[in-house]
Amino acid sequence: MSVDQYFTPENQSLVKTYLTQEIYDSLKGVKTKDVGYDVDIAIQTCKDNQDSGVGIYAGDEDSYFALAPIFDPIIDAYHGGYSKDAKHKSDMDPSHLKGSEEKVDDFVISTRIRVGRNIRGYGLSPGISREQRSELEKLLTNALTKLTGDLSGKYFPLLGMSETDRIKLVEDHFLFKKGDRFLESCGANRDWPEGRGIFHNDKKTFLVWINEEDQLRIISMQSGGDFVEIFDRLGRGIKAIEASIKATADKVYMFNDHHGFIHSCPTNLGTGMRASVHIKLPKLSADKDKFYKTCADLKLQPRGVHGEHSESKGGIYDVSNKHRIGYTEVELVQTLIDGVSKLIALEKAL
Ligand code: ADP
Ligand code: ARG
Repeated sequence: MSVDQYFTPENQSLVKTYLTQEIYDSLKGVKTKDVGYDVDIAIQTCKDNQDSGVGIYAGDEDSYFALAPIFDPIIDAYHGGYSKDAKHKSDMDPSHLKGSEEKVDDFVISTRIRVGRNIRGYGLSPGISREQRSELEKLLTNALTKLTGDLSGKYFPLLGMSETDRIKLVEDHFLFKKGDRFLESCGANRDWPEGRGIFHNDKKTFLVWINEEDQLRIISMQSGGDFVEIFDRLGRGIKAIEASIKATADKVYMFNDHHGFIHSCPTNLGTGMRASVHIKLPKLSADKDKFYKTCADLKLQPRGVHGEHSESKGGIYDVSNKHRIGYTEVELVQTLIDGVSKLIALEKAL
């Protein structure tokens, strides 16, 4: 079967760029160890969504090894260079962050830093079984109930949640949307809404998504631009959840020295961290193409105000670090802090 026929001429995905006939043929018949995933399931999302930027998801930890001939070049290209023998690096110490050159308060509405995490021994969302997902929801919510202080909170399952409550949580930027078509195609939305939900503290500054694109999305957010406070809370949250999962269920995060923390999408490998601001830049963003190019030069990625694949409103953008692997968490937050300062200076100059 010729791979060319899978993609339209307009398709600009990394899968289309890197999936040569030779690589495709070499992966024929290869099944991953954990859930029996293969190259055809992995790239189905790219066939269904010809506007994919990346176009591939992993079904389990072994996908990144068994299907390495297609994942490796995509990882290298997306993250701005990450060789096959590179080692993941980490630094979660908030005291290593340097302040911003510009005063951010008049421009930054809110700041959010999230990481993804998955648990070893379970399929990733595209490959997990209904039983495993349900077991995982119980295991994770039990571990989360043990958190204390500003991290303590309550779990709200999607199953049984009223539409009004769900829509409000989405519109207020706290909860994931439903029916992402890219995830739909890789099977990550099976049995929706079973097994999914959100945990959060009273102030909604510490939140955990369960069983969406990744088994866990750990989020720290608040209004304004206090990067240190938000990063500090996130780091404490990641550690506390890790310790609680170990103590209550003897489980660990899915991790290896090369890929860092394993995620279903190769764009999230490594730190799994996306540090973003909602920032008002009406003048600078008036020329959208130029604004996107300016962000890319600063290693930043703009998104619409309702997250990925949404449109911006009133010159307010979600701007975050683009890369996740090959840099420490501190380096990525610093990229955002420095980039935001530059964007503010440019906005002021206009
Ligand atoms: P992810 O962050 O997991 O990659 P999305 O891009 O879909 O996923 O964003 C998830 C939600 O987080 C969206 O509602 C988005 O508006 C919200 N969000 C992102 N950054 C910020 C921010 N700095 N302040 C407030 N909400 C934010
Ligand atoms: N699969 C989608 C694409 O290729 C999204 C990729 C990155 N975003 C994500 N949420 N993992 O465009």
